[in-house]
Amino acid sequence: DAQSERYRPQFHFSPKAHWINDPNGMVYYKGTYHLFCQYHPESSVWGPMHWIHATSKDMVHWQEQPIALYPDSLGYIFSGSAVVDVNNTSGFGKNGQVPLVAIFTHHNSKLEKTQPEQVQYQSLAYSLDEGKTWTKYAGNPVLKNPGITDFRDPKVRWYEPQKKWIMTLATKDRVTFYSSPDLKKWARESDFGSDAGAHGGVWECPDLFPLKHNGKDVWVLIVNINPGGPNKGSAAQYFLGDFDGKNFNAYSKQTKWMDYGTDNYAGVTFSNTGNRVVLMGWMNNWQYARDVPTPKWRGATTIPRELGLKEANKELYLTSTPIKELDVLDGKITSLTNVDVKGSSDLTAKTGGKYDTFKLTLSAPATNDFSVVLANEQGNELVIGYDKSANTYYIDRTKSGKTDFEKDFGKRMTAPRLSTDKTISLTLFIDVASAELFADDGLSVMTGIFFPNQPLTKLSIKSATGTSISKLTYTKLSPSVQ
Ligand code: FRU
Repeated sequence: DAQSERYRPQFHFSPKAHWINDPNGMVYYKGTYHLFCQYHPESSVWGPMHWIHATSKDMVHWQEQPIALYPDSLGYIFSGSAVVDVNNTSGFGKNGQVPLVAIFTHHNSKLEKTQPEQVQYQSLAYSLDEGKTWTKYAGNPVLKNPGITDFRDPKVRWYEPQKKWIMTLATKDRVTFYSSPDLKKWARESDFGSDAGAHGGVWECPDLFPLKHNGKDVWVLIVNINPGGPNKGSAAQYFLGDFDGKNFNAYSKQTKWMDYGTDNYAGVTFSNTGNRVVLMGWMNNWQYARDVPTPKWRGATTIPRELGLKEANKELYLTSTPIKELDVLDGKITSLTNVDVKGSSDLTAKTGGKYDTFKLTLSAPATNDFSVVLANEQGNELVIGYDKSANTYYIDRTKSGKTDFEKDFGKRMTAPRLSTDKTISLTLFIDVASAELFADDGLSVMTGIFFPNQPLTKLSIKSATGTSISKLTYTKLSPSVQ
């Protein structure tokens, strides 16, 4: 249907039809990246959850595969993770085969009314054919509910110093860490967060992993939260700290936000990618996910982002930057230097623009306001800019087209600028109906979806005070969707 297809992303994963939410079970194995997502194969709104499956050689070109996990007598298949059980600790591998093991939440809706604190528990499924087909473990569930209504989204990783698995689980207003020798028997280690971070909503989809900083491990704990995000609805906060196989000790109990935009939720990282840490989120927000104007399919993932650490103003922050592999999409590149802007400069002709899938990078002095305006003949516009007096970046959807499906959609969202560099550098990915902004080497990140009435193919730079863009490149991006 034309209405649904005109917002179809061209280089992001989206389901051919029907509803997706959280990315699940992302794992790299034998040259293939696997992505699963929360999926309702019968409608384009949320319902009994399955795991849809997609595979890729580069995290950029995704191919939809048959559904991996179906609901069963223990419940719907909620979010979770997958690991490569190299040592066959689970014993699922036969004749030297390495099992892929998925650890997920079963959500038993039959118990919602009578025993709400028993609805969610953790279970396993395994694959012995490199992720093609999955068998549920006969001993499910492997982690029963101790009486907590929100008890879900297990993210499991191997903790080499103590040769055990660590599960990071969202348990209502905190995360709880469990450990296991074999993925089947789990012991509670500790919890974190009832007195830390943002608590505007329930904690969901956590992740825990180390990143190197000055030769030392810094542990990152990502905690998605809904609602209570910095620009309303769902968002991803994180903490930095130490982890010793039992406790997570945060350097600070204050929340930091991985992405200030409204549309990067439930993001977690791939397993088995070595020292490289790559995250993808669900490019949507629970505030309006059910109502976005794509009635035949709903939901897409963000571009994959490589995570790192960087200091700014004596604070350490998590950074997100587009993965290198995305360069495969690069088409014609136009580079401009020293573009003087006073008022408004239309760059559509100069950049050979007229596309609605492109990448824009630019460098500009941090001493002046400026904005990138994407527009069409109908007067729809999406404005992405820097506000000098507030020292914030913003994405403004006020006039972006269809906004009335939710009252807060057509607004300006903001992110603080954390860098103190004199020059601002921005990278912006536009894919028909989404904008992903990476500022200052990924220190300030914003993701926002939008629904123009016609494609936004006009590009201009505005600056009321005047500015000079020292370098600007406009790269047409080709579709990766098969
Ligand atoms: C997050 C979430 C998870 C849950 C899943 C259900 O978006 O609410 O906590 O497992 O979605 O679809």
